[in-house]
Amino acid sequence: MIRASQLHKRYGSNHVLRGIDLDVRPGEFVVMLGLSGAGKSTLLRCLNGLTTPDEGQLSVGGIDLRQRHSRRALARHVAMVFQHHNLVPRLSVLKNALTGRLGAVGVLPSMLQLFPRRDVDLARQCLERVGLAHKADARAESLSGGQMQRVGIARALAQQPQVILADEPVASLDPKTAASVMQCLREATRQLGIAVVCNLHQVEFAREFGDRIVGLAQGRIVYDGAPSGLDDAALEAIYQTPQPPLTEAPRPPMGYQPALAVGGA
Ligand SMILES: Nc1ncnc2c1ncn2[C@@H]1O[C@H](COP(=O)(O)OP(=O)(O)O)[C@@H](O)[C@H]1O
Ligand SMILES: [Mg+2]
Repeated sequence: MIRASQLHKRYGSNHVLRGIDLDVRPGEFVVMLGLSGAGKSTLLRCLNGLTTPDEGQLSVGGIDLRQRHSRRALARHVAMVFQHHNLVPRLSVLKNALTGRLGAVGVLPSMLQLFPRRDVDLARQCLERVGLAHKADARAESLSGGQMQRVGIARALAQQPQVILADEPVASLDPKTAASVMQCLREATRQLGIAVVCNLHQVEFAREFGDRIVGLAQGRIVYDGAPSGLDDAALEAIYQTPQPPLTEAPRPPMGYQPALAVGGA
C-alpha cells in the first residue's frame, strides 16, 4: 500500500528525513511516535504528496510519487485527518462530510453543492460509522471537540481512500474523548480495510490501538515492530534527547573525583 525506501528530505541545511524505509500493508494501523521535530509530519506530507522527498523511492497505492502528474491521482487514494479537523463551522455536519467527495465531484458542482445522490448516501453512511448520523443536520460549530474530530474522520472515509494519514488527531482532546476518537478511527478503518499511519504523542494509545509502532528520532526509524516489543530500551531510542554540548553539562559536586574518565556529557 505504502512503499518508501531510503527517503531523504532536507529543508536548507536541516536534514529532516535521513533514509526512511517504510512499507505499510493494506488495512494495517501504524502509529508513529517521536519527539517534536523528529520529522513525523514531514514524513506524512511526503506520503500525501504535499512535499517531495529529495531522494528515495516512494509509492502509495501503486502510484509513484516522484512523478508530478500523479499528485491528483494520489488525492483519490489518500485522505488526511488533522489535529484541528478543519471543518467549515457554519456548514452542516452532512455537508462537511460531503466535502470528502470534492475531489471526485469536480469544482463547479461542488460550489453549487450539487452532490449526486449516491455521494449524499455515502456521506450519511460515513457519519453512521462514526456514530453521528443523528447530527447530520446540525451545524458543525455546535458540536463538541470529540464530535468534530469524528466528522473529520467521516469526511476522510467519504473520500473512500486506501490510506488515511492522521497527524496528531487527538492532541487537542481530553484523554477520555481522545481514546474514544482513536477507537472510532480504529474500528471504521479496520471494517473498511483502510491502512492508517497516525502520528501520536501518547505512548499508551500507541500500545492500545497500533497494529505496529514506528518510532522516529532525528529523521531515522529507530523502532519498527509490534506494540508488545515497545520496551524501555525502545522508548529510550525513540525519545532520546540530543546530547547537550559539554559546556552545558552539570558540574560535579565539590570534592567529586571521577573513578574513570568517561567521554561525553
Ligand atoms: N516547511 C518547512 N520548512 C522548513 N523547515 C521545516 C518545514 N517543515 C518542517 N520543518 C523542520 O523539519 C523538522 C521536522 O519537523 P516536523 O516534521 O514537523 O516534526 P514533527 O512532526 O515530528 O514534530 C523541524 O526541524 C522543522 O523545523
Ligand atoms: Mg508534527
